Amino acid sequence: MSATILVTGGAGFIGSNFVLSERSQKRCIVNLDLLTYAGNPLNLRELNGDPDHIFVKGDIGDRRLVQKLLTDYQPDAVVNFAAESHVDRSIDSPESFIQTNIVGTYHLLEEARAYWKSLPPGRREGFRFLHVSTDEVYGSLGPADPAFTENTPYAPNSPYSASKAGSDHLVRAYYHTFGLPTIITNCSNNYGPRQFPEKLTPLILLNAIEGKPLPVYGDGLNIRDWLYVADHCEALRVVLEKGKPGETYNIGGSCEKTNIEIVEALCALLDEMAPESRYAPHRSLITFVKDRPGHDRRYAVDCSRIERELGWRAKETFESGLRKTIRWYLDNREWVESIKSGAYRDWIAKQYGR
Ligand code: NAD
Ligand code: TYD
Repeated sequence: MSATILVTGGAGFIGSNFVLSERSQKRCIVNLDLLTYAGNPLNLRELNGDPDHIFVKGDIGDRRLVQKLLTDYQPDAVVNFAAESHVDRSIDSPESFIQTNIVGTYHLLEEARAYWKSLPPGRREGFRFLHVSTDEVYGSLGPADPAFTENTPYAPNSPYSASKAGSDHLVRAYYHTFGLPTIITNCSNNYGPRQFPEKLTPLILLNAIEGKPLPVYGDGLNIRDWLYVADHCEALRVVLEKGKPGETYNIGGSCEKTNIEIVEALCALLDEMAPESRYAPHRSLITFVKDRPGHDRRYAVDCSRIERELGWRAKETFESGLRKTIRWYLDNREWVESIKSGAYRDWIAKQYGR
């Protein structure tokens, strides 16, 4: 089991949940994060003063810095969350997606390879480079298509998914060409605490709390597979412990929902959990808006391999996960207020207009 992990992107949504959960398991974390608009030091507030969480602000593409962190801290694994992650932003402006997701991952791989080669044989075998990726690399499914398996051919449709696919291919190549013990995970849509409110669940939730319109793209019938973030973090821990180098593992919640189902479920739970709200019933705020260009219709993940081979299974149900998520956003108003900075306001104004 890894004792020290270099986590990249550990101030973002999934990364911070992972760091908190690994610290509770006593793993030492070196956390490299550029703190883009999506990275938030408040996500890691619980770790203030923790000597076994070393936070470093920086870019995964900064070779000198990555080399220094690897040399100084001698990690047993690298877990790469760092990425530009929002599809709508990738449509608006793809360049940073290419830069971080593809070029940045390449630089990180190169430094990891040099470090791994320098390790003594015992430690070299145990080293892992875990690359956290998405189901979106597989493209879009028709209504009757079987769910994505690890053998589904890649067919990314957005600049985001194309850039993640590019990084996945590089990670795979570093295993096959150089023997670097890499593993790729492709996970479905996550929801839970600390997610930046540009993504569907927190955007709808915060707008509903504030009585603002709830924008649903197109006909609202696009389907995603939803997984509570803690279940994803647990899957990553299991993959680090038991996953086989060179392999890919799909991770999902086996929970396909249309977007309108998600929005209506959030509204109904909010009616119940915030009974004092002036805006109930919150579903009256639902507003259908112009569709996303190239909007993938359906994602569904077959995660039978990780269940069968590594014994992982999602614990949270859709309802229990949504309840925990809503509770967190209702109870963490300071976090919410900190997010509503100029950068967030500018994005909302640009994307949704008035
Ligand atoms: P996020 O946007 O919330 O966080 C990304 C983090 O990476 C931020 O803290 C940001 O500051 C940091 N970062 C960005 N560029 C960087 C760089 N060049 N160097 C160092 N740090 C940088 O993203 P997330 O939702 O937490 O997703 C994390 C990873 O999981 C991504 O790789 C994403 O593709 C993947 N993923 C996300 C989901 C999901 O539903 N959110 C699902 C499957 C896979
Ligand atoms: P999102 O959270 O951006 O994740 P992804 O595009 O990576 O799946 O969006 C989830 C779904 O919700 C997707 O089908 C687009 C839709 N959506 C809306 O209908 N309205 C919105 O305001 C947003 C942000 C997303």
